[in-house]
Amino acid sequence: MTNTSLTFDVKTADRLIWQGQVVMSRSEAPYFDELFERVAQVVRPERVLEIGFGLGISADLIQRRLQPTEHHIVEIDTGIYADLVRFAGDHRGVVACLGDWRSAPLAAPFDLVFYDPFNYTEEPDDPVREAGLLRHLVRNGGALCHPHFGDGPPRVLPGFRTVVLERFKVPKIDMADGTHCGHAAAVLCYPDD
Ligand SMILES: C[S@@+](CC[C@H](N)C(=O)[O-])C[C@H]1O[C@@H](n2cnc3c(N)ncnc32)[C@H](O)[C@@H]1O
Repeated sequence: MTNTSLTFDVKTADRLIWQGQVVMSRSEAPYFDELFERVAQVVRPERVLEIGFGLGISADLIQRRLQPTEHHIVEIDTGIYADLVRFAGDHRGVVACLGDWRSAPLAAPFDLVFYDPFNYTEEPDDPVREAGLLRHLVRNGGALCHPHFGDGPPRVLPGFRTVVLERFKVPKIDMADGTHCGHAAAVLCYPDD
């Protein structure tokens, strides 16, 4: 799949719902605000790649908190990509890319990759393959960041060393499956040498 034009049950500035699943909701905004505040204390990336535009909440925070010179954003859905193109028009240094991050031509390597896609297929994620692809997108000495919900252990990404910067409570977040979550963490993954 290179790109897709999905029909969402709900597509507003606050919610993206597809086939009953919450793809993204503004309930994540307070968490993302804390996340990028902490990430900005640790990394100052010049070149950022963001995987998945969604509602543009993280994109806005990356602009404000990290102020990268280049902020590449790849999005698979044409309707959401149209929102991304508008966002790119309003922010200097934003490069919009339509496609599947796994096959799109991306100007790697990046200092920081923010990884927040959503699996629309019936195939389960393949963490080993995805970690291998992500490893090529992050420069040596760079970092990968992904959302971490709940108070459990962070996901293991082969080829990366994961560091939990901080765990904290967050206002209730709506999860994809309809449950809610009140804990989250700021996590950075550093490529192995
Ligand atoms: C959880 S949302 C991202 C939320 C975003 N971080 C925000 O703050 O609003 C996931 C996004 O990734 C996109 N996406 C899903 N699979 C993708 C893929 N393989 N390549 C690129 N984008 C993808 C979805 O269409 C959706 O816009």
